[in-house]
Amino acid sequence: MSIHSYIYENAQVTSAACAIKILSLLEERLSAAPLASFAISGGSTPKLLFGELAKSGFDWSRVHLFWVDERGVPPNDPQSNYKLAKEHLIDPAGFPATNVHRIQAELEAQTAARLYAEDIAKFFGLGAGVFPQFDIIHRGMGPDAHTASLFPGSALIDNHVGLAGAIYVEEFEQWRITLLPGVLEAARNTIMLVAGEDKAEPLRTVLHEPYDPKKYPVQIGTHDGNNVLWYLDQAAARLLN
Ligand code: 6PG
Repeated sequence: MSIHSYIYENAQVTSAACAIKILSLLEERLSAAPLASFAISGGSTPKLLFGELAKSGFDWSRVHLFWVDERGVPPNDPQSNYKLAKEHLIDPAGFPATNVHRIQAELEAQTAARLYAEDIAKFFGLGAGVFPQFDIIHRGMGPDAHTASLFPGSALIDNHVGLAGAIYVEEFEQWRITLLPGVLEAARNTIMLVAGEDKAEPLRTVLHEPYDPKKYPVQIGTHDGNNVLWYLDQAAARLLN
C-alpha cells in the first residue's frame, strides 16, 4: 500500500502546506464544476489549518462547507466544531452563510443526524442508496485511531448505507453526529492532517497493520491510498520509515 505523505517540521508548517493543497484542489474542481464541496473536521489540529485557509484571500463564493462530525453541543459551546470553524475560518474568510451546512447538534442527536443527511442528499441531489462524492474531506486521527466520530468498536462502522449517524460516546459522555463510512470512502479527495507526539505510535500501527476498521477506524477510506494525502508533522511521523 503506498500512501502519499508529506512531513513537515511542525504543526504550523504542516497546516500551511495542507492549506495550499486544499486550495489547489478546490481551484481545480471549480475550473470544471460550478460548485465545490468541502467537509471539515474538528478537534485541536484544524485550528492552524483554518487560519491558513482564512488568510489565503481565496474566493469561497462557490465552495459549500460541511462537517465530518460534530459534538452534541450548541453552536456557541467551546467544544463545538462549528464554533471552531466559525471563529477561525468562516468569519475571518467571509464565507457566505448560505454555503455553510452546519450540523444542528443542539437538537436531539438522531434528529440532528437525520436533518444533516437530508441536507447532504438535497445538496448533492442524491437518489436512494447513492453516496455523495465530496470534493474534499479533511480528516484527523485520534490517539486511539478514531476518525470523524467513528471510534474503535463503534456500531456505526458497520453502517454502510447511511450518510450520517449519531452515537453516544461514553469516553466523552457526549453524543456525536458523524459522517458514515460510505461517505468517507466515496470522497474524491481525502486530506489527513495529523500532528503531535501522541499520534506517532497509532499512525505507524494503522499504516502497517492489515485493514481492520473496527479496530482502526481511521483506515476507513484511507487504507487503499487512492486520492488520500497525509499531512504530518515530524512528531507524528517519527516512527514511519
Ligand atoms: C472531533 C474530530 C475528530 C478529530 C480527532 C483528532 O470532533 O474531535 O473531528 O475526529 O479529527 O479527534 O483530533 P485532534 O486534531 O484534536 O488530535
